[in-house]
Amino acid sequence: MRISVIGTGYLGAVHAAGMADLGYDVVGIDVDEPKIEALNAAKAPIHEPGLNELLETHVASGRLRFTTDFSAAADADVHFICVGTPQLPGRLDADMRYVDAAVEALAPLLTGDALVVGKSTVPVGTADRLAKRMAGLVPPGSTAELAWNPEFLREGFAVEDTLRPDRLVFGVRSKNAEDRLREIYATALAADTPLVVTDFETAELVKVSANAFLATKISFINAMSEICERVGADVTKLADAIGYDERIGRKFLNAGIGFGGGCLPKDIRAFIARAGELGQGQSLNFLVEVDRVNLRRRTHVTDLTRQLLHGSAAGQNVAVLGAAFKPNSDDVRDSPALNVAGQLHLQGAHVTVYDPEANENARANFPTLAYAGSALEACRDADVVLHLTEWSEFRELDPAELGEVVRSRNVIDGRNCLDVEAWRAAGWNYRGLGRP
Ligand code: UDX
Repeated sequence: MRISVIGTGYLGAVHAAGMADLGYDVVGIDVDEPKIEALNAAKAPIHEPGLNELLETHVASGRLRFTTDFSAAADADVHFICVGTPQLPGRLDADMRYVDAAVEALAPLLTGDALVVGKSTVPVGTADRLAKRMAGLVPPGSTAELAWNPEFLREGFAVEDTLRPDRLVFGVRSKNAEDRLREIYATALAADTPLVVTDFETAELVKVSANAFLATKISFINAMSEICERVGADVTKLADAIGYDERIGRKFLNAGIGFGGGCLPKDIRAFIARAGELGQGQSLNFLVEVDRVNLRRRTHVTDLTRQLLHGSAAGQNVAVLGAAFKPNSDDVRDSPALNVAGQLHLQGAHVTVYDPEANENARANFPTLAYAGSALEACRDADVVLHLTEWSEFRELDPAELGEVVRSRNVIDGRNCLDVEAWRAAGWNYRGLGRP
């Protein structure tokens, strides 16, 4: 089977490599020349564990190639749409221009019974709209059709999630589309991966509601963290205790500086906007509050930092450990860590950032911050150290050694995962979030 993957970003690059690993002939298509060149040289344009290895194997075997030439898609039997749906500037809605453009460019090339499979996260109703648009653009005689197959991969685990998904969702309008998808995912299905076959609308909603639920879980524990802080309780113990209840579960109950990234924040906003368009805004009013709680975390850490600096950040040295929105990724889109670093910089602090993988991306977005080549270097002469992305490298830091290079032993653990006892024993004034 020949497959085209349109869009080779965080989702598409991994999906293309994953499909090649399953044995298909894959062409990845993107408008970004440097990205395509890197991918053809088997160099992942993003930091994603395991991706380089997959690219090396399958680019070398000739099973996987990348191009900016859209017409290369014409030879494929199945086309995956993996382009981005970022938040529109100044609005809550998703920007649909890349998805629309991909379908419009693809449709005239579709001969025979080609299958177009949408994977991008889209507002409910998009697949129905695109199916109609496609029908008007395909060449006469073509029976090409559309399916929606949302993707649930987590950055940092994207290769693993693509090769061994925890569930598959097929939004289809025909038995033929379902059978084709079953064939593509035969390996995962043979391994008993749960499958939900449904209509377009449900498939689209599964994705956004999953992300809305995860965001709600994080904001819930962060709201508890605010209460804990008020009364001197410990949110980490609270999360452990409620997490033992299987109905609640301990995962995604880590209080801290909140969620960021290219998905959760923009997906809940686009969902709110879509519900409003549908006349059902009240159903998702709680997500407005989820977003507010989340954004409040960033201000809170900034305020706490100022408090440790005796009221003003101006002229003080702030070390920021972490720039990526989560560990094992170099993605800085809507990163809470960089948001905090930027706020403190604007308040006059000298901010030095270190991230094991994301320094370059951070610098491109926040060129006015200083960047260091190691945690120790970032902390030199610091008046306060902020731990904002939970890379294992930071958990393994020796607080005594770090204590030797800073000006004051103040640390804010924005992810509540440093060893409190060890840091306090080394003379640090340790402040977690929502814990004494
Ligand atoms: C998310 C979804 O998990 C994934 O299924 C979907 O396909 C895309 O969006 P991702 O953006 O990679 O994946 O990140 P995720 O692991 O969900 O973390 C999102 C943010 O929440 C990160 O900033 C993380 O640090 C934060 N987070 C996560 C918390 O603050 N507390 C937690 O307990 C868990």
